[in-house]
Amino acid sequence: MGIYEDKVLPRIINVACGMKPLRQYRERACAGLRGRVLEVGFGSGLNIPYYPAEVTGVAAIEPADTGWTLAGKRLSGARVPIERTGLDGQSLPLPDNSCDTALSTFTLCTIPDVEAALGEIRRVLKPGGKFHFLEHGLAPDESVQRWQHRIEPVQKRLFGGCHLTRPVAELLTKAGFTVTELDTFYEKSAPKPWGAASLGVAVAP
Ligand SMILES: C[S@@+](CC[C@H](N)C(=O)[O-])C[C@H]1O[C@@H](n2cnc3c(N)ncnc32)[C@H](O)[C@@H]1O
Repeated sequence: MGIYEDKVLPRIINVACGMKPLRQYRERACAGLRGRVLEVGFGSGLNIPYYPAEVTGVAAIEPADTGWTLAGKRLSGARVPIERTGLDGQSLPLPDNSCDTALSTFTLCTIPDVEAALGEIRRVLKPGGKFHFLEHGLAPDESVQRWQHRIEPVQKRLFGGCHLTRPVAELLTKAGFTVTELDTFYEKSAPKPWGAASLGVAVAP
């Protein structure tokens, strides 16, 4: 990981992803989490305030040291133990069936091999465990999709490999999850190519 990815980008993400309009979506994504939670792409811990009381501990996966450092205050104020358990969602250092629920917000866009990461999330979730997601991805409208395809190469270079055109629900289904809750919408605070959001719950087999 270069200096830009490790030192600069996490600060940009902390500000951009910390914007007030996103808080309502984070709250919805975290509702229903319980027990031992796997959070992939923990970033600067912006979901910590929304973990429900039923959460007993969090295994945080985050490659960027600066993201983890920026999470400092939120980590020390957290009600539950949060451990930085790993650095890469594509290869989780956790046993099979070891987490009750899982969470990813704005991260499936960035992980290089997203299919491998979804396979890992499925592996560590207990059977029937719920994966809560809040992601941006392929827009429902063709005119927006065209813009997303045009912008994506630059987006990936500037934002650590972040894709704009990943079909979130389709990827989850292909990975063997059953999507039981799904809300797709454009975030009001973002231009449509960046704001095509999928918020929901997928259940592991
Ligand atoms: C746009 S940020 C979102 C951060 C956080 N989830 C949030 O909602 O604020 C994407 C995060 O994914 C992390 N990431 C990148 N590659 C990853 C990988 N292979 N495994 C896990 N996380 C990764 C980045 O370091 C970054 O923190």
